[in-house]
Amino acid sequence: MKAKSIILFLAVSAAIAAALFIPDRPTSAQNTPAQKGACITAQCHAQMDKTEFVHGPVAAGECAICHGESPEHAPNPQKNKFPAIKDVAVKCYECHEPFPAKEFAHAPAADGECTACHNPHGSPYKFQLLSKGGELCFTCHDESLVGGAFVHGPAAVGGCVACHDPHTADYQKNLKAEGPNLCYMCHTDKADAIRSAEYVHMPVSEDCVSCHNPHSAPKQFMLQAESPGLCLDCHAEKKEQMTGAAVRHGALETGKTCLNCHDAHMSNIAKNLTMEPLDLCLSCHNQVYTKADGTEIMNMEKWLAENTDQHGPIKQKDCSGCHNPHGSEYFRILRNPYPPTFYMPFAVENYNLCFSCHEKTIVLDPETTQLTNFRNGNMNLHFVHVNKAVKGRTCRACHETHASNHPKHIRDAVPFGSWELPVNFQKTDTGGSCTPGCHKTKQYDRVKKEING
Ligand code: HEC
Ligand code: HEC
Ligand code: HEC
Ligand code: HEC
Ligand code: HEC
Ligand code: HEC
Ligand code: HEC
Ligand code: HEC
Ligand code: HEC
Ligand code: HEC
Ligand code: HEC
Ligand code: HEC
Ligand code: HEC
Repeated sequence: MKAKSIILFLAVSAAIAAALFIPDRPTSAQNTPAQKGACITAQCHAQMDKTEFVHGPVAAGECAICHGESPEHAPNPQKNKFPAIKDVAVKCYECHEPFPAKEFAHAPAADGECTACHNPHGSPYKFQLLSKGGELCFTCHDESLVGGAFVHGPAAVGGCVACHDPHTADYQKNLKAEGPNLCYMCHTDKADAIRSAEYVHMPVSEDCVSCHNPHSAPKQFMLQAESPGLCLDCHAEKKEQMTGAAVRHGALETGKTCLNCHDAHMSNIAKNLTMEPLDLCLSCHNQVYTKADGTEIMNMEKWLAENTDQHGPIKQKDCSGCHNPHGSEYFRILRNPYPPTFYMPFAVENYNLCFSCHEKTIVLDPETTQLTNFRNGNMNLHFVHVNKAVKGRTCRACHETHASNHPKHIRDAVPFGSWELPVNFQKTDTGGSCTPGCHKTKQYDRVKKEING
């Protein structure tokens, strides 16, 4: 309470006391039962102590302690009006501990308007409040706060003071705790899960209300928006990627969109993934999808189960080393260019995908003794097949990118138009042979160059 008002209060009390010839500080000793009877009678102030929650001094009949003495008043109510109580809060603080000074104070409490919320005599509500729960707050605040389609449990039942201190608080908005700790007061299960998780989404550790409205909101769980909109508000770069991608990933457009793969709060897997990366992909790619243009996207889970010789990154369970799960400008949401066809005029950039991990020299040098094992004597057969101005064969002509049952991921067969062109690869210690649908059997040997007819 401001020192100025206290001085003013004391001055006024002294003046009243002088005028009425009564001691300047009424005490309970001076309020005799007779005086109580004088105020609360069948005729006068009869209801004052009949309500459910009666204020202590009123119950004790101690009217004068707040209003001062007025011997003339009781027998003749028209006489001697009581002077108005100038500074109500000062009056309250005569008996109650002033609220501890904290950094934040609710405006009406700071302004000493105790009676904006409390009836000084009594009321049907606990703490002699003027109304109960949210209704009290909504006498001054806009009720639309809880007008959203989804209302938070405690706000719906008027439990405003579970979170807000009506008087003074250490945290802004008069909150009883800060950031997630406010929510953890009740959501102890979430607190445990988040605190024990290895990875926590940054806004979750900062403030839950960056996504959840603490009162109400248009979407379930008091979210302002659903995923992906909710996520893209902050992850704007993903929005550009998603909408700008030439090849979009169906996973972002079905079901829970971003939440198909990410947990909004936390995870024990990096990037807040809901499952281990490979399991995550296979949780959907355990079926054949038919794209809008009629092409079929194979059942990858089945393929990997049936083809046990798996490509390095797949053994490392890393599908997104090659695919961008959020969409891409390249065929099959690949991270780098890779030809979509069987034939492709040669340009090394077309194979940036493979050459982000493998040496590109395997297709650049016509002769080699060590760059690749796919050679006949010194003749580089990768160069021969791939490095052609017109009908360069792409890697898929021979290799299966994910897995096969042959060494070096050589395929059984490769789609050639509507035909599954067989490869018939046989490996030897120093070379190999194939009998593909392209030409008759040809052999290669690194030690002793084979002469193919
Ligand atoms: C804790 C202090 C306090 C006590 C005790 C108290 N009053 Fe009041 N009373 C107030 C305040 C504050 C007001 C509001 C008007 C004002 O500011 O003067 C008020 C207003 C009134 C009013 C006028 C408005 C109304 O609410 O009807 C009456 C009558 C009244 N009091 C009677 C009593 C009687 C009778 C008692 C004893 C049974 C009593 N009061 C005890 C603080 C008190
Ligand atoms: C003359 C001393 C006195 C004054 C002045 C006084 N109170 Fe009280 N107040 C009490 C007593 C005594 C109680 C009852 C305490 C109890 O039951 O534990 C009480 C109880 C309360 C309670 C209920 C607290 C509880 O824990 O249930 C509230 C709220 C309250 N007063 C508010 C006020 C307000 C607001 C004012 C100023 C308008 C005020 N009091 C002025 C003595 C006073
Ligand atoms: C905006 C409304 C509001 C104002 C203004 C307000 N109070 Fe309260 N007060 C409450 C509510 C609500 C509670 C009950 C809190 C709870 O349930 O935890 C309360 C509780 C109390 C209590 C009892 C519990 C406690 O915290 O000790 C006292 C005493 C009290 N107020 C005194 C005052 C005094 C004195 C003032 C003026 C300085 C004041 N109040 C101003 C709303 C208000
Ligand atoms: C008598 C009117 C009144 C009542 C009743 C009232 N408030 Fe307020 N409240 C105010 C005013 C005035 C402000 C300051 C508004 C501003 O600064 O824009 C305020 C501000 C607030 C703020 C924001 C504080 C900040 O730092 O911005 C919160 C939170 C709040 N009130 C909660 C409550 C709750 C909860 C209740 C019910 C227990 C309640 N109010 C009851 C008048 C009231
Ligand atoms: C679960 C805790 C919680 C409950 C319950 C709760 N609030 Fe809040 N309230 C908050 C938080 C957190 C903020 C701050 C929001 C922010 O910073 O965006 C807030 C902010 C406010 C504000 C300030 C709004 C503004 O725009 O500055 C008011 C007013 C308010 N609450 C009133 C209420 C009322 C009235 C109730 C009861 C109907 C209530 N609150 C119930 C947590 C709660
Ligand atoms: C005073 C206790 C309390 C506090 C504090 C609290 N909550 Fe709640 N919350 C509840 C209750 C009660 C429910 C309703 C539970 C139910 O319906 O199962 C709930 C429900 C929710 C729900 C919906 C859950 C569901 O399954 O539908 C979300 C989301 C939520 N709270 C978020 C928060 C956030 C964020 C905060 C902090 C700003 C917070 N809560 C603070 C008590 C609280
Ligand atoms: C980045 C946005 C975001 C943040 C920050 C956030 N949440 Fe959530 N929360 C969500 C989304 C989205 C859902 C809905 C999840 C779903 O549909 O699977 C949700 C659901 C919930 C639910 C109900 C369903 C469940 O998982 O139990 C609770 C409770 C909850 N959040 C509490 C919290 C708490 C507490 C915090 C702060 C520690 C928090 N949230 C922070 C986005 C967020
Ligand atoms: C309030 C802003 C905000 C919202 C909303 C938001 N995020 Fe985030 N998110 C961040 C910030 C900040 C980071 C940390 C960025 C950094 O470390 O560079 C982050 C990081 C991430 C990460 C990377 C985590 C890691 O370990 O590197 C993922 C994944 C993520 N968010 C997904 C989502 C999803 C999914 C949603 C929607 C449910 C979402 N975010 C909503 C702010 C947000
Ligand atoms: C199909 C599963 C999947 C979906 C759906 C998905 N993500 Fe991811 N996301 C991943 C994987 C896997 C990673 C980690 C690999 C990586 O860095 O690309 C990741 C990484 C991230 C990262 C951190 C690294 C980075 O690329 O910035 C953010 C942020 C992110 N995702 C946001 C989102 C948002 C926002 C959405 C929804 C628009 C979304 N994700 C949808 C699987 C997915
Ligand atoms: C070494 C890079 C690489 C890795 C790692 C990789 N992919 Fe691929 N993926 C490709 C290439 C290249 C294509 C295009 C193949 C083609 O058309 O010949 C493709 C195509 C696909 C297709 C479409 C198949 C079709 O029917 O056209 C799916 C689905 C797929 N990958 C899923 C996955 C999954 C799931 C993983 C992890 C288990 C994974 N990929 C790992 C490179 C890779
Ligand atoms: C929530 C289910 C879901 C998850 C999880 C998922 N996908 Fe997909 N994916 C799809 C759907 C649906 C399509 C087909 C889209 C269409 O119809 O165009 C698709 C298509 C693809 C394609 C072919 C893209 C094209 O149109 O050329 C590749 C490649 C692919 N996914 C790889 C992955 C990888 C890698 C992962 C793990 C990071 C993954 N997917 C996780 C649902 C999923
Ligand atoms: C993300 C890195 C990465 C990408 C991209 C990649 N590979 Fe690989 N590749 C590997 C790893 C790791 C191995 C395993 C090497 C080992 O076991 O010594 C491997 C092995 C191979 C092998 C078998 C080599 C051997 O000696 O067993 C072939 C063939 C192969 N990759 C072809 C390709 C083709 C074709 C592409 C492009 C479609 C490609 N790779 C893209 C990482 C990659
Ligand atoms: C005409 C079939 C064919 C084509 C086309 C082909 N490869 Fe190969 N590749 C092979 C054969 C056969 C081997 C196994 C050589 C051996 O170990 O005997 C091989 C081996 C490899 C190896 C293992 C290391 C090495 O060179 O011995 C890598 C890596 C590789 N190929 C990558 C590629 C890439 C990248 C492409 C596309 C740019 C490609 N291949 C195109 C047939 C082919």
